[in-house]
Amino acid sequence: MGWLEREGNEQVERRTIGAAALSVGAVGLGCMPMSWAYSTSRQRGEESLRAVHRALDLGSTLLDTADMYGPFTNELLLGRVLKERRRDAFVSTKVGLLVGEQHIVANGRPGYVRRACDASLRRLQTDVIDLYQLHRADPEVPVEETWGAMAELVRAGKVRALGLCAVGARAARRPGTGLYDATIRQLERVQQVFPVAAVQAELSVWSPEALETLLPWCEARGVGFLAAMPLGNGFLTGTLTPGEGFEPDDVRARHPRFTAEMMAANQPIVAGLRRIARRHGEHVTPAQVALAWVLAQGRHVVPVPGAKHERWVAENAGAARLRLTREDLAEVAELPPAQGSWD
Ligand SMILES: NC(=O)c1ccc[n+]([C@@H]2O[C@H](COP(=O)([O-])OP(=O)(O)OC[C@H]3O[C@@H](n4cnc5c(N)ncnc54)[C@H](OP(=O)(O)O)[C@@H]3O)[C@@H](O)[C@H]2O)c1
Repeated sequence: MGWLEREGNEQVERRTIGAAALSVGAVGLGCMPMSWAYSTSRQRGEESLRAVHRALDLGSTLLDTADMYGPFTNELLLGRVLKERRRDAFVSTKVGLLVGEQHIVANGRPGYVRRACDASLRRLQTDVIDLYQLHRADPEVPVEETWGAMAELVRAGKVRALGLCAVGARAARRPGTGLYDATIRQLERVQQVFPVAAVQAELSVWSPEALETLLPWCEARGVGFLAAMPLGNGFLTGTLTPGEGFEPDDVRARHPRFTAEMMAANQPIVAGLRRIARRHGEHVTPAQVALAWVLAQGRHVVPVPGAKHERWVAENAGAARLRLTREDLAEVAELPPAQGSWD
């Protein structure tokens, strides 16, 4: 763990990702909501640009994106910032998913990976990607072949390190198997080809499954862990009202935990986070407690909360200064498990 001096002499915690020793601010920024998955009508390009700049000002250096967010527009947006501030940022993007009219397909063919990387570099207005992640493995292509093509990109100097996303594990899970069994098998295979610097998977107070096997696997091998959806798609911030509803193009409109009934049933989780926040001060928020809980799961863990507003970005960056006590962590462990499941 290191520290970086930022504006106003404030110290910002830095964390090191993987054997490649990539140094990033402890809290990253998930850029997906700026262009994908959440209601399109709320996307605002200029506000998003300000949010990215604010993140970099506050030491939230890891910007997580993907070529398929938009598609393509999220990388284009980041490119506008990176053109001016490449040295302040750690660029983490993804390859392997193609968006069609009504569907998303995996493409892990080596030729495609090479072309996709060049296209991402152009959109991002940079000559190197810090972390290049395989978004989903292609069932038609041995993962070693895809990973080998990604390793070639490292050798060519276009990419600094490789990561693997396991966020799709829930949908791909076979009955009777552990959530991350298949991911760990995949990780063991690609490790034979080229080192994995980071794994990205869901981890939050209401989705803690990665703690069982995946996080320990990473820790034992010096692999970093990017915690996706650390705010439970916004639920854990306590700013969403049950029954408010979501626009049809918002992923939460189809998410089993976001029906009015399940949101109401899961309120005790938010109430618990709020209780802990109050103990730490009147300005501390449930979102900050949710992120501090993720940070407390290991020095190799970096949450990438998604946000497109400066205000949220600043609040989330502030979570790096919040240290949960043993009592706080025990209280989170005692919270009721989330109701509403994809399974
Ligand atoms: N690899 C994958 O397949 C995959 C899949 C999903 C996500 N991810 C990554 O993980 C990142 C995070 O996931 P996510 O964005 O879906 O979920 P999340 O971080 O759990 O929650 C994001 C939502 O929380 C809201 N929010 C953020 N900070 C807030 C605060 N302090 N107070 C109130 N509301 C706040 C955001 O609002 P606004 O948007 O309105 O600001 C957004 O709606 C993504 O950006 C992406 O980089 C990866």
